[in-house]
Amino acid sequence: NLMYPKQESNEPPMVPYWIPFLGSAIRVGTDPIRFYQECQEKYGKFFTITLVGRKMVTCLGAEGNNFVFNARLADASAEEAYKGLTVPVFGTGVVYDVQNSVLMEQKRFVKAGLSQENLRAYVPMIIKETLEYFERWNEPKGTDDIHEAMAELVILTASRCLLGDDVRSQMDESFAKVYSDLDGGFAPINFIFEDLPLPANRRRDQAHVKMRNFFLSIMQQRRKNKRTDTHDIMQYLLDNCEYKNGRRLSDQEAAHILIALLLAGQHTSSTTSAWALIYLAQNPEIFDALREEQIRVLGSLDAEVTFDSLKQMPILDNVVRETLRLRPPIMTMIRKVLRDLPIPGTEYVIPQGAYIQAVPMISQRDDGYFKNADKFSPFRWEDYDKQQKERDDDVVDYGWGAIHTSSAKSPYLPFGAGRHRCIGESFAYVQIKTILATFVRMFDLRLHNNKFPEVDFTTLIVTPVKPLVDYTRRDQKK
Ligand code: HEM
Repeated sequence: NLMYPKQESNEPPMVPYWIPFLGSAIRVGTDPIRFYQECQEKYGKFFTITLVGRKMVTCLGAEGNNFVFNARLADASAEEAYKGLTVPVFGTGVVYDVQNSVLMEQKRFVKAGLSQENLRAYVPMIIKETLEYFERWNEPKGTDDIHEAMAELVILTASRCLLGDDVRSQMDESFAKVYSDLDGGFAPINFIFEDLPLPANRRRDQAHVKMRNFFLSIMQQRRKNKRTDTHDIMQYLLDNCEYKNGRRLSDQEAAHILIALLLAGQHTSSTTSAWALIYLAQNPEIFDALREEQIRVLGSLDAEVTFDSLKQMPILDNVVRETLRLRPPIMTMIRKVLRDLPIPGTEYVIPQGAYIQAVPMISQRDDGYFKNADKFSPFRWEDYDKQQKERDDDVVDYGWGAIHTSSAKSPYLPFGAGRHRCIGESFAYVQIKTILATFVRMFDLRLHNNKFPEVDFTTLIVTPVKPLVDYTRRDQKK
């Protein structure tokens, strides 16, 4: 029998469910796009679902995004929603274990460290890692799992750029094990129950200590050797960071921030690279367009891709943007409501203790915002940019070529908005674009058996299920 949860008269409408406690968790885990679209049709932009015993007010459309991302600190808290999951993984004294004002300072440190100069230095490093990694696809033709490949590659590229060559050169199989145990802490169950005594959580805690100690020992070596020749974020955090009250960032805080960056950037960037290549394998003419674009900008496919030349490749940029529109790796962004919270323009009041979530994935697939919204079409962004420029609103030029909307009112928010907005976007774009630009020179791709992969929505980061691709090495084709 369908269950109708109790509801105060002014709460957003409740979506009924079949299974007590779990509520709508199974629909959300298997078919969230249709589920949220159906709810939106029935109840409007704001409605309450039950998710494993929690009241989750779902806020859709540009107005829902704006409501969640611009909520006041005193009204809604990301820390309260995320700390149980993240503090054991990242460690204490950083991100969601500190007051929001401290997080803002820590984010500013990292943002400053991801300077144009440093990003410029990362491009050749990412090219080198990509070329070396794909030496293993050395047959003229083959079939492989593109998500697995991207996950393995991105941990190498991200570590080299963010942590440095000394860390990268010491990354062996034991590092991979520690990394994977730490990453195991990001299980959805830890979102819901704090610190269960599970074997995986014990491994997570041991892995945290090992990773931190590894980073601390590298920092000490660097202090002794007085290294100044690196562009990585570890060095930036060691040299440059002082809070407004005059206190220097401690080594332990720096190590914890680095763990947070590595994990925040890993699955988001590797799934986006994988999905981009899956869409390209489905649309081989865009593969060709990307190669033609490189020839137009660089003269030939033998000339080196650089940070500055990437800025002149709008098709490449739009491939990433379009991939993030259809397959944003972070499906929902959540806050806990700290006091009864009215939704402007409605009669609704959200009770204290409930959660609110923005789901930009739904507005990003809404025909009202994007024509033929379900179709992968990177070229749509050319018109979109032109119109945005003409209207001159919500336009941010980050200086690396692309123009992205960042207002909380935008329907397109794969990086969130407001005070918790991603600070890794510039790095993610440089990393993903460099990998794709290098990849299209080496390989042609088709979907194996023409099968577009299923999507796993039960992981915290939305992933493709075993996406097999058939590759042909271009250099061995002739
Ligand atoms: C925050 C997405 C890559 C570091 C966020 C948020 C989103 C997001 C949606 C907002 C979360 C919320 O409001 O609840 C992405 C995507 C990425 C990506 C789609 C790649 C395609 C990265 C990278 C880094 C990073 C590479 C680090 C170098 C962070 C940090 C925050 C954040 C530190 C701030 C958290 C906060 O203030 O609460 N990201 N991210 N991200 N991201 Fe990313």
